[in-house]
Amino acid sequence: MKIDGQPYRSIWLHPEDERCVRIIDQRLLPHQLQIEDLRSVAAAARAIREMHVRGAPLIGATAAYGMYFACLEGQDLDQAAEQLRATRPTAVDLAWAVERQLRILRPLTTSTERSARALAEAQLICQESIDYCAAIGRHGLPLIEALHQRKAGETVHVLTHCNAGWLACVDHGTATAPLYAAHDAGIPIHVWVDETRPRNQGARLTAWELLQHGVPHTIIADNVGGHLMQHGQVDLVIVGSDRTTRTGDVANKIGTYLKALAAYDNGVPFYVALPSSSIDWKIRDGLADIPIEQRGAEEVKYLQGLDGERLTKVLLTPEASPAANYGFDVTPSRLVTGLITERGFCAAAEEALLSLFPEHR
Ligand code: MRU
Repeated sequence: MKIDGQPYRSIWLHPEDERCVRIIDQRLLPHQLQIEDLRSVAAAARAIREMHVRGAPLIGATAAYGMYFACLEGQDLDQAAEQLRATRPTAVDLAWAVERQLRILRPLTTSTERSARALAEAQLICQESIDYCAAIGRHGLPLIEALHQRKAGETVHVLTHCNAGWLACVDHGTATAPLYAAHDAGIPIHVWVDETRPRNQGARLTAWELLQHGVPHTIIADNVGGHLMQHGQVDLVIVGSDRTTRTGDVANKIGTYLKALAAYDNGVPFYVALPSSSIDWKIRDGLADIPIEQRGAEEVKYLQGLDGERLTKVLLTPEASPAANYGFDVTPSRLVTGLITERGFCAAAEEALLSLFPEHR
């Protein structure tokens, strides 16, 4: 996607230095565009843990490069894998990318062989992510086209939560891919963007992405969606996923479940867009089996924003009040109208998923 007309990805190899990977420090967006260089496992792990990079596919891609750094540094692969896996527990892409690297690297013995193979695999993971997100866009487009026709050509209003855009992936995004595809196909769409407290990925990142691509949108406080749905102002909801069980339960950014409940109550279709790297084929029960990340209370208690030219943090709450910070929640499959994957659209159910991915039977 583009920033000020210039094509970007969310992560890329430094064109003049193969030992360096570049990322956008997403903590500073939308106010500052700062590129950061990663050169070690420790730096990759820190970037994931402290959310310089975030979003399920992007943390998977960053971890894949982290394993490449482990090879360059001659580190013990299992220790590096553990260090990377421990950074964030919910998004399964992270463990998936690390495992994928381990499987390929373990049989290799020389560090030159390992480094070359790890770099190639990290680049392949990034390219696959781009291709899968583009395919999600193609498979999601007909859903928006159908609504556009049913509305006799009127604007289609979509609600999304958090940032499941290109910044959360390598390019295109998951939830945003059908939106960009519809917009590019000339279908009038308007996106309601949930601010997504406490880190405000919707207000800061999704809004910025949509603005860069010229997609009409409106930022709303997290509690507004239900009201809009009751008044017929949302035609569909599309969100991303951090981990989906083989039965179609979906863990996504905290607050997703409440949007799914409101959508269900109001007959609004609720779609989840996800690449297969976000599916955990080992588990069936999202509520019981998906670990939910808890982060520091300061993310709830403080707000970051621009004060004149200066990025600053302010305390919002009584200083002494404790705060709890659950990062994700689980939306049971019964509330999900359908899943949009790189292989097509299906019901949020085990048989339907297996018909698209028969290799996991
Ligand atoms: O905590 P974050 O910002 O990493 O959470 C991101 C989300 O919850 C996204 O909605 C999800 O990863 C899907 S990303 C395509």
